[in-house]
Amino acid sequence: GAVELGPYRHYMQKEIFEQPRAIADTLEGVQGVVPELFDGIDGDAAWRVFKDIDEVLILACGTSYYSGCTAKYWIEGLAGIRCNVEVASEYRYRKSVPNPRALVVTISQSGETADTLAALRHAQSLGMTNTLTICNVATSAMVRECKLSYITRAGMEIGVASTKAFTTQLAGLFLLTLALGQSKGHITEAQSDAYLEKMRHLPLALQAVLALEPQVVSWAEDFARKENALFLGRGIHYPIALEGALKLKEISYIHAEAYPAGELKHGPLALVDSEMPVVTVAPNDELLEKLKSNMQEVRARGGVLYVLADANTNIENAEGMHVIRMPEHYGVLSPILHVVPLQLLSYHTAVARGTDVDKPRNLAKSVTVE
Ligand code: AGP
Repeated sequence: GAVELGPYRHYMQKEIFEQPRAIADTLEGVQGVVPELFDGIDGDAAWRVFKDIDEVLILACGTSYYSGCTAKYWIEGLAGIRCNVEVASEYRYRKSVPNPRALVVTISQSGETADTLAALRHAQSLGMTNTLTICNVATSAMVRECKLSYITRAGMEIGVASTKAFTTQLAGLFLLTLALGQSKGHITEAQSDAYLEKMRHLPLALQAVLALEPQVVSWAEDFARKENALFLGRGIHYPIALEGALKLKEISYIHAEAYPAGELKHGPLALVDSEMPVVTVAPNDELLEKLKSNMQEVRARGGVLYVLADANTNIENAEGMHVIRMPEHYGVLSPILHVVPLQLLSYHTAVARGTDVDKPRNLAKSVTVE
């Protein structure tokens, strides 16, 4: 194809390693978070829309849906605006209560996903005219049909399993959070600048995470022999666990499920035995102590834990407990780092199993028919 593989074996691997560049591109030329970043039409359309809205409704499918689920924590937690996230194929067919003051946000790598387009049109038909898309293809139907748009800087994504599109969506959604928060007076310009500064260090932090690849490869050797896996996360990292499970399913064909760790004892704990690897996303946040007791529950049943722990936690390697040490905790932007080892885990597990990584069976890059 026109895009060279270079030193990489598959496009997916190349795209995982492009993420520092993609995030750096996202921030190039961004001086402050201004509504114009989201403007498809004229100078102040976005500003007027942001001032007016009282709710956010995110519509997307697959991995793009999980970036929306992550953004919900930012939009409610930082910008102080109610946010709902719906799978597009569900929203388009259910009777819902429209809010004409909602900002409808579609998220799509391709901008051509049939269900997401139909969900957008459904929202419009219900009188919701404030529409914004986070999209990777500037010439797509999604961008044409939304009032406002934010084009992610992932560059062309070829692997069916979405990687750099996801992290650049998260970066765009975080900028949107800052813009919304500022327009509502919930985030000051100084706070926004501090967050931007933190974003500017993401490419370096991502490099540090990518350097963990050899350790992930050794995990992948274990996973390649399994038929099931469980992924746990809490709070803003629960959607990251969901994304990790989806990646593993898609390209390695291993049955994987993700749960918010607190749900373990409400059912999935019954699945845990020595044959069930349990991947735990364990950033050093305010939920860590809760997560540790969930990890104890797994170990007590003979489950084998694979833990992604931030540097400044005291989670150590032990019998039945494999730890990969991530960089220091990255605060609210931590999901952008924690998803990367999960991408690498699914990639290397698939390679070890000999599946067609870039073109997994039964799947298409963009689902343009229902
Ligand atoms: C992700 O790895 C998938 N292949 C898939 O879930 C994808 O994210 C989904 O089909 C949505 O695609 P879009 O972002 O192009 O709308």
